[in-house]
Amino acid sequence: MTAVSQNNSFQPINLFEYEQLAKQHLSPMALDYYSSGAWDEVTLRDNRAAFERVKLQPRMLVDVSDRNLSTSILGQPLQLPLLIAPMAFQCLAHPDGEIATARAAASAGVGMVLSTMATKSIEEVADGCQNFQNSLQWFQLYIHKDRGLTRTLVEKADAAGYKALCLTVDAPVLGQRERDRHNEFALPLDLHLANLATISGLDISHEKGESGLFTYFAQQLNAAVTWSDLEWLQSISPLPLVLKGILRGDDAVRAVEYGAKAIVVSNHGGRQLDGAIASLDALTQIVTAVDDRAEVLLDGGIRRGTDILKALALGAKAVLIGRPILWGLAVAGQVGVAHVISLLQDELSIAMALSGCAKLQDIDSSLVKVSKHIE
Ligand code: FNR
Ligand code: LAC
Repeated sequence: MTAVSQNNSFQPINLFEYEQLAKQHLSPMALDYYSSGAWDEVTLRDNRAAFERVKLQPRMLVDVSDRNLSTSILGQPLQLPLLIAPMAFQCLAHPDGEIATARAAASAGVGMVLSTMATKSIEEVADGCQNFQNSLQWFQLYIHKDRGLTRTLVEKADAAGYKALCLTVDAPVLGQRERDRHNEFALPLDLHLANLATISGLDISHEKGESGLFTYFAQQLNAAVTWSDLEWLQSISPLPLVLKGILRGDDAVRAVEYGAKAIVVSNHGGRQLDGAIASLDALTQIVTAVDDRAEVLLDGGIRRGTDILKALALGAKAVLIGRPILWGLAVAGQVGVAHVISLLQDELSIAMALSGCAKLQDIDSSLVKVSKHIE
C-alpha cells in the first residue's frame, strides 16, 4: 500500500494510529461529532472492552498456507466479511466525502452503506463506483415525518442500483452527545444534506445550547415508527430489508417475522442509549433467536482483525466498521480509507492463520471463550 501521509513521515500501521493522525486533519467540531458517544460514553467504551473479554483458543497444525477471506451477503459477493457502516457528513473529513469512501470500498471488494444524512447524493456515490465490478452499496434509511420524502429516498436508492435498504431502528430521537451540545454542532455553510437537497429548509444549523443534528431529528424524523411501518416500507420497495440497531433476541425474531433479510446487531457505536449492552455481548442471544432465518451482522468497536474473527466465531456473517473509516478519510481521502481496509484485511488473514482457519467457514464457536461477565 502506498504512503498515506505526504507531509508527515509517520505511517500508521493500525487503526488506532489512524485515529491519532486524523486529529490533525479535522476541525474540533468534526472530531467531536465523529468520536463522541452518548452521555457518559459507557457503551462506547464497553463495545471495545467486550472484544477484550473474549479469548481465543486457536487450533494448531492446520494447513493455512492458502487463505480465503471471501463471503457473500444477501447473495452479493464480498472479498472480506466487511461493510462500511453508514455514517453521516463524510465531507467534514474530506471534500470527496462519501464518494471516496464508496470507491475505496468498491476497489477492496467490501460493502458500503450510504447514510440518509450523507453529504454526497445517492446518485453521485453510485456514479463514483460505476467502474468497479460487483460493487455493493446499501442505502441506510431514516424515516422522516414527511412520508413522500422518505418514499422518494427509497425509490432513488433502488433506481441507482443499491442492493438493500438498511433501516436504522435505534434512533427515534438522537442520542445526546454532550460535546456536540457544547459545540452547538452545525454543518459548515458549504456542506448540505445531499439526499434532501431538493427540500428547502432542511439543514443542520446552529441552535443555542443544542446540537443542530439533535434538533433536526426532533423536528424532521418520525419517532412514531413501529413494526407495522415495515410493511409499508416493503410495499413501496422491492429491495431486501435490513434492520440496524437490534439488541434483543425477541426484537430479532420480530424482525424476521416482519420480513427482514438481515439484522445488524448494533448500539450505533455507543451514540444512542448510553448504558446499552455492548453489541458483541448481545450477539449470541440474537444469533440463537434468528436461527439462520436471516443473516446476522454486527458493528461497534471493530478495530482489529481479531475482532472480526471473534464476531464471526460468535455467529456474525460479517461486520460493519464505523469511525476508523472516517479517520482514514480525514488523513488521505480514498487512499486512506483503502489503507484502513487493507490493514484490517491483513490482520484478519494473519489472525485466521494463527487460529488454524484457512477460510471463513472454519471459524466456529469452538475458537472463542467468553468470560462469564454477561450471559
Ligand atoms: C454513525 N452511525 C450512523 N448510523 C446510521 O444508521 N446512520 C447514520 O447516519 C449514522 N451516522 C453516524 C455518524 C458517525 C460520525 C458515527 C461515528 C456513526 C453509526 C454507525 O453506522 C455504526 O453503527 C457505528 O459507528 C459502529 O461503531 P464503530 O465502528 O464506530 O465503533
Ligand atoms: C449519528 C446519526 C446521524 O449517529 O446517525 O450522528
